[in-house]
Amino acid sequence: MPRYCFSKDKSGYFLKDCLGNQRPLRIYFSAPNLRRRAAQTGKSELLLKAIGAQNNLRVLDCTAGLGVDAYLMAAYGCHVTMLEQSPVLGLMLREALTRALLDPDASVIAERMRLQETNAVDFLNSYCRQTEDDGTELAHSFDVIYIDPMFPPRSKSAEVKGGMQILQKFIGKTDNVKLLLEKAVATGIKRVVIKRPLRGGDIDGFAPSYQQKAKASRFDVYLQ
Ligand SMILES: C[S@@+](CC[C@H](N)C(=O)[O-])C[C@H]1O[C@@H](n2cnc3c(N)ncnc32)[C@H](O)[C@@H]1O
Repeated sequence: MPRYCFSKDKSGYFLKDCLGNQRPLRIYFSAPNLRRRAAQTGKSELLLKAIGAQNNLRVLDCTAGLGVDAYLMAAYGCHVTMLEQSPVLGLMLREALTRALLDPDASVIAERMRLQETNAVDFLNSYCRQTEDDGTELAHSFDVIYIDPMFPPRSKSAEVKGGMQILQKFIGKTDNVKLLLEKAVATGIKRVVIKRPLRGGDIDGFAPSYQQKAKASRFDVYLQ
């Protein structure tokens, strides 16, 4: 029997780990806990501080995953372009966005979210190629690049929770973090933010301008 079941029911797509006992993973932007978090935390959410969130800020989220961070940024008023390379997550995100656009309570936020099912390295490469002559178009399209790679699995006591647990097993750790950061910085966009394990070192050759630390992770901010 295959380990993962990817299927659809009346609530939409879901991904289930047949060897685990967690609830199936779903993406649902109208979920009350997500809406509450967006409404309550405001700019005290460290992510929002790290990206310098404000109305109409244009964010390129290179690693969309479950779209939670993208939703929080969009709820604050940012315009977020999400990139996701996994076809399974791409389908789930696309469907979740379509549903959110039909929900009067979620549509205002969903309208600020876009999705491209693509590898972020390819996206950044082709974008830079298109603008080789003056090299500035990408810098004019986005104000911030955000990267949240999949960390290596943690010790048992510090395991990730909820949907991220299935995602971590299903997707595995992100291999190309340094390349992704390199390409992001090469765009010249003024602010690049990458989420890192709290005690992870700097990425080789890339010392951040500053860091913002949470309990188990931190945001490294590169200003240029
Ligand atoms: C830790 S998750 C991101 C979680 C997300 N920030 C959220 O709030 O739900 C990392 C995601 O990035 C995706 N990813 C990793 N490398 C990528 C790349 N080069 N291009 C596009 N997506 C990538 C993975 O498939 C995975 O879904």
